[in-house]
Amino acid sequence: MILRTLAGHAMTARPRVVVVGSLPATGVDLLRRRFVVDAGGGRPDRRWLREHVADAAAIVADPSIPIQAELLDAAGSSLKVVANFAVGHDNIDIDAVRERGIRATNTPDVLTNATAELAIALMLATARRVAEADARTRSGEWPSEEELLGRELAGATVGLIGFGRIARRVAELLRCFEVRLLFSTRSDVPAPPGVERRELGDLLAESDLVTIHVPLPPETRHLIDASRLAQMKPGAILVNTSRGAVVDTVALIEALRSGRLGAAGLDVYEDEPHVPRELRELRNTVLLPHLGSATGTTRDAMARLCVENVIAVIEGREPPTPVV
Ligand code: DGY
Repeated sequence: MILRTLAGHAMTARPRVVVVGSLPATGVDLLRRRFVVDAGGGRPDRRWLREHVADAAAIVADPSIPIQAELLDAAGSSLKVVANFAVGHDNIDIDAVRERGIRATNTPDVLTNATAELAIALMLATARRVAEADARTRSGEWPSEEELLGRELAGATVGLIGFGRIARRVAELLRCFEVRLLFSTRSDVPAPPGVERRELGDLLAESDLVTIHVPLPPETRHLIDASRLAQMKPGAILVNTSRGAVVDTVALIEALRSGRLGAAGLDVYEDEPHVPRELRELRNTVLLPHLGSATGTTRDAMARLCVENVIAVIEGREPPTPVV
């Protein structure tokens, strides 16, 4: 946009960046050094978004903010980049972004270890019934060991669904637990030493504990449905730190209620931030509010990477971590 100074000289206005979602203050401050920042807070309504994206050069969002064709059109031809503050980008209509010649970016790698550690925290918490024991102790009870018998990871078979960066880090971290490791993926990745490849059905049938690490394109929606849950070992544990909609929640609740599944450790849900009452009422669930990347160092690194992506695209350079 060209403005005129009082003396009539042409002056280029600073590009405007609309920030919605959970980008931390560090990221917003870095953006403010170069751009005019229009911050819409956590989850602004669609109307606010439509109005504020008009003429913006960048939209910074996170997985709770759907970025669809209609919003891209409301932004108009000034829009250069949609920068997601997350590795997952299932909230963005990538085809619509591509068709309009816009860039989309995400924040991979920097959150790999934090998310992998959280998956392991959920494995231990479900296997040793940590949340249930904590709740009962807090309520003044002193349940016996026999009432809270758990199981050890050592000797268990752990099945990784997906074998991208986070799953591979989980596999690395699990080595010291002396588990047998299986993985299943549609990608053509070679099996590293000590991890065996399986078809999904075989992995589910052999694993004592299954942990999900796939993104959410349309093909993985309800990948784990009632028929897949029925293939799991009776009493097995399911951990999900990827996206809630990879699992059919209704089928999962039924499998947990019937005792077909031993427990579930969930960090993600189909309709966040809504956590179904049935899941909350079950004792054999450990429920977290999407904390995979929630460590200070990781959120800071994600914020910096997200901002670097915005700056690179606006300045006409290749962004460090493009999606398209
Ligand atoms: C991601 O980066 O996709 C995590 O789920 C945090 O949103």
